[in-house]
Amino acid sequence: MIVILLMQMQYTLEFMKIIKFEEFLKQQGSDPINLVSNGFFLNSDIQTLFDKDRSSFVSKVEKLISYFPFVVRHPQFIIDFILPQIISSIDTSSNTNSDVKESETVKKCEIKAGIANSFKPSRMLEIGTSYGVAAASFKKAMPYCEVYTVCPRLTAGYNNPLEESNIGYFYREKGLKVIQLWSDSTKLDFSKLPVFDVVYIDGNHSFEYVYKDLSNFANLTRKCIILDDYVSKKIANKYNMVYGPWNEGVVNAVNKFLIENPDMFREKYLIEGTPYCLLIK
Ligand SMILES: C[S@@+](CC[C@H](N)C(=O)[O-])C[C@H]1O[C@@H](n2cnc3c(N)ncnc32)[C@H](O)[C@@H]1O
Repeated sequence: MIVILLMQMQYTLEFMKIIKFEEFLKQQGSDPINLVSNGFFLNSDIQTLFDKDRSSFVSKVEKLISYFPFVVRHPQFIIDFILPQIISSIDTSSNTNSDVKESETVKKCEIKAGIANSFKPSRMLEIGTSYGVAAASFKKAMPYCEVYTVCPRLTAGYNNPLEESNIGYFYREKGLKVIQLWSDSTKLDFSKLPVFDVVYIDGNHSFEYVYKDLSNFANLTRKCIILDDYVSKKIANKYNMVYGPWNEGVVNAVNKFLIENPDMFREKYLIEGTPYCLLIK
């Protein structure tokens, strides 16, 4: 019991060197990615994605219910996240800013694609496809790279459930060649998978899944594992970010994995003010 408590306390340690995105790119000798001025993201894309998301009201309610155990431990989450979500679902006039230049989704895709591109991957894998926005951004930014993405066909019961026809919608819409693997990331036949230069983990955010994804892909990754949503409570407070259930599992799983595998990665970075953590070999 004491050992478990000590381990859990340890998981709250900060492991990452915090680095500004621009500084990281400079260190890598790499340029930023712009997905707006090259006409890739259009205002209509943001509007369509927003409309698709708004229509999945039932899954939103399911998601809010599943947050209950977290809310008991972090009541502040109601004010920071749940209430604004409810208000924006009721008030149809809010949240309709579809200007690509202002879009957080686009900014995040440019950062993710910039990070991945700095490793010049010839093959990369995304865990968790959703609408395929990140997968499309990776492929557009790195036409030289084979981009794989994995997602279960039936996502009911998983986080961010979508109709099958919507999974990967955006890369298909943009006519980009992304290799879709239809599976739960933890149920792949790992003996048949190739090695990836970069793996971006953004699937099921629970502790068990993130820990399994790390364990399964650490040896299948040659250069860097990028984890989305690595935001501790301390970092969230410092940078005024929402701290949610999708962060807790990621932080604890990454920290446990790093305690158990101290020599596996040469560098560990957190890109300042973002949810991206990089484990570099
Ligand atoms: C946060 S969304 C991904 C967003 C996407 N990476 C992007 O940036 O555009 C999480 C996705 O992971 C999927 N997912 C959940 N559990 C998964 C698992 N075990 N394996 C693969 N995908 C999973 C969900 O169905 C959802 O589509």
